Amino acid sequence: MLISKWIAFAGLLGVAVASPGKSLAKRTTVDEVLTDIEGAVTCAACEALLVVLQALAHVGNDDFVDVITDVCILAGVEDSDVCTGAIAREGPVLAHDLREMSIPSKTATLFCSTIFGLCDYPAVTEYSVDFPSAKPDTSRPSPSGETPIQVVHISDIHVDLFYETGASYNCTKNICCRPYTSADAPGNTSYPAGEYGNHNCDAPLSLEQSMYEAVATLVPDASFTIFTGDVVEGAVWLVNETEVTNDLNDAYQTRMPNYLNLVYPVIGNHDTAPVNSFPPSDIDTTLGSDWAYSTLSSDWTQWIGSTAATTADNYGAYSVLYPHGNLRIISFNSNFYYKENFWLYEKTMQSDPNGQLAWLVTELDAAETAGSRVWLVGHMPMGGSDAFHDGSNYFNQIIQRYDATIAATFYGHTHKDEFEIAYSNYSNPTADTATMMSYIAPALTPTSGNPTFRVYSIDPVTFGVLDFEVYIANMSDPNYQTKPTWEKYYSAKETYGSLLTPAVTDSSAELTPAFWHNLTVLFEEDDTVFQDYIARKSRGWDYSFCTGDCKTDEICQLRAAESQYNCVTITPGISFKKRDISTKLHEESVCGESVIGTMFSDFEGAVSALKSSLASSFLNTTVNSTVA
Ligand SMILES: *[C@@H]1O[C@H](CO)[C@@H](O)[C@H](O)[C@H]1NC(C)=O
Ligand SMILES: *[C@@H]1O[C@H](CO)[C@@H](O)[C@H](O)[C@H]1NC(C)=O
Ligand SMILES: *[C@@H]1O[C@H](CO)[C@@H](O)[C@H](O)[C@H]1NC(C)=O
Ligand SMILES: *[C@@H]1O[C@H](CO)[C@@H](O)[C@H](O)[C@H]1NC(C)=O
Ligand SMILES: *[C@@H]1O[C@H](CO)[C@@H](O)[C@H](O)[C@H]1NC(C)=O
Ligand SMILES: *[C@@H]1O[C@H](CO)[C@@H](O)[C@H](O)[C@H]1NC(C)=O
Ligand SMILES: *[C@@H]1O[C@H](CO)[C@@H](O)[C@H](O)[C@H]1NC(C)=O
Ligand SMILES: *[C@@H]1O[C@H](CO)[C@@H](O)[C@H](O)[C@H]1NC(C)=O
Repeated sequence: MLISKWIAFAGLLGVAVASPGKSLAKRTTVDEVLTDIEGAVTCAACEALLVVLQALAHVGNDDFVDVITDVCILAGVEDSDVCTGAIAREGPVLAHDLREMSIPSKTATLFCSTIFGLCDYPAVTEYSVDFPSAKPDTSRPSPSGETPIQVVHISDIHVDLFYETGASYNCTKNICCRPYTSADAPGNTSYPAGEYGNHNCDAPLSLEQSMYEAVATLVPDASFTIFTGDVVEGAVWLVNETEVTNDLNDAYQTRMPNYLNLVYPVIGNHDTAPVNSFPPSDIDTTLGSDWAYSTLSSDWTQWIGSTAATTADNYGAYSVLYPHGNLRIISFNSNFYYKENFWLYEKTMQSDPNGQLAWLVTELDAAETAGSRVWLVGHMPMGGSDAFHDGSNYFNQIIQRYDATIAATFYGHTHKDEFEIAYSNYSNPTADTATMMSYIAPALTPTSGNPTFRVYSIDPVTFGVLDFEVYIANMSDPNYQTKPTWEKYYSAKETYGSLLTPAVTDSSAELTPAFWHNLTVLFEEDDTVFQDYIARKSRGWDYSFCTGDCKTDEICQLRAAESQYNCVTITPGISFKKRDISTKLHEESVCGESVIGTMFSDFEGAVSALKSSLASSFLNTTVNSTVA
């Protein structure tokens, strides 16, 4: 999940308005506002900055993009080609938002919270999802005891078709292994990338193929595969509609069908251009993602059939019956609840963009009536810090209503091997109140760990998860670049089941929400078990001990499938610390060191760059500062 450079820049600007203690007065010109907020790290300063940016957006997209690009380059946030490409793509979306925004408003506060990290997260706006029927008095079915089926889960392949063996893996961008300059070219660099990938690069085709071959060899009897999204690579400053269309078609129509016979795919945040851009359908724009939905719909028809493909064409979501059992697969577009999808910051934010939640209710209610079990598959896990609190709350109402029908939910996006538990009462998370599992599969792309995939053991009657195994190709193995060796890394039940009281070792026992809750209790009691989990979470690469607040926060996140309960606190810089800054500044750290220091050192530069980039006529523009 590589986030755009634009966000990194926006984040820097956010930090750039920070420095404590100065009270802000109402000012009238852009120049005065900027001068005032230079020294203040407050929510009000952030909103004042939005006023300036809004005025700039009103001048026009081209000027907006030019100025912001200038600032990005002057402040040295990224290489100039990255600044130029990323802001040209995403600047217009942000400019659209800003023009529509009321300041102050909940939307403005939310933006300053999720993107700039300067405001407290606004309270959830209450909204009751409509249900056509009352919740019946049923509970999760017991395991059938019949021979399990195998289901493969792959995620975040991020295949880079421009990857070149021998190109430099040591570059100043978030993905390398491309001849960005002649010095980076094969033969000219002292840092030649191997054939099967590098931790600084997205996946080469050879690595993806090696995974599919491993799946075919290690899981020859797999019943089907779920793929939780992100086909496209992370050079977001270059990615355009032509490339995304080609990437999607090539992955889905040419590569996957060679190895996998039945795939249930999901749309990821990278599967459009510009990245993360998914306007709700009632926004009138020429920058829509309808072309991506059409491409996916025709790519997926081979597996989901033409009826489900028709709904996928609407906004990337579909519902389809698995042909060999009483299971309905519902694939939804989580980008409508994703904080980096700038289109969502509307003047009045929609409770149910594209009516997707209402659609989910209809599908789930029909499944309940039919006595089918359901798997909900999406890209972004709904309990993490990337999910809006509001959308996550509304989604959770649906999960709670249909907790007996939904066997489990499955996601990717984080690139990590993790899980989230939903509770009927988040004030009282216990084995008894645990109601639903989010299974979050680790990625193929090696940028934040070793390449992996998962295989679930599934009850063929209830479709409950009985176990999963993670397979890994260890990039530190000296023979890796000759030919990756895929091997079993661990099994959830083997690793954890016997450590619990009572032990859960029976092969037909389900890994219920209560099982996973009990595991989080064990994490609290037995630190060795927890630290081993942390190592697996990072796919066995570049992890460190997670203690104190790190551990408390980690367990809190595991116990939150609704994002307002995940204990992620808003601190300047933090909201973009973990994932949104390129590896140029730092590696993504799991509970690790912050890089805020690095960014603060660029701070003054960003603000003075903004001031010096703005024409004096614009600096003289009168604006309404909201700063009290
Ligand atoms: C990358 O290259 C720079 C010099 O260009 C060098 O100082 C640095 O050690 C290299 N990094 C790695 C990981 O090899
Ligand atoms: C390698 O560098 C030389 C000298 O700068 C250049 O002429 C050549 O084109 C480069 N090779 C590639 C493959 O770019
Ligand atoms: C889109 O990107 C591809 C690959 O980077 C590039 O070759 C092509 O020229 C771009 N097309 C447009 C219209 O910018
Ligand atoms: C949720 O748990 C809290 C704390 O145990 C309890 O006070 C509250 O009554 C519970 N709410 C419901 C709806 O059961
Ligand atoms: C979870 O732990 C409780 C005791 O704390 C136990 O009663 C229950 O059986 C356990 N559930 C599972 C699924 O292991
Ligand atoms: C990968 O291989 C290295 C070197 O042999 C070893 O130290 C490391 O523990 C292995 N990692 C995993 C996840 O097996
Ligand atoms: C901006 O305001 C200053 C001071 O009032 C004035 O000297 C300058 O000419 C103005 N610039 C423009 C371009 O209007
Ligand atoms: C400033 O605020 C006033 C009163 O709220 C409003 O009428 C005016 O249009 C605003 N001006 C700008 C530039 O936003």
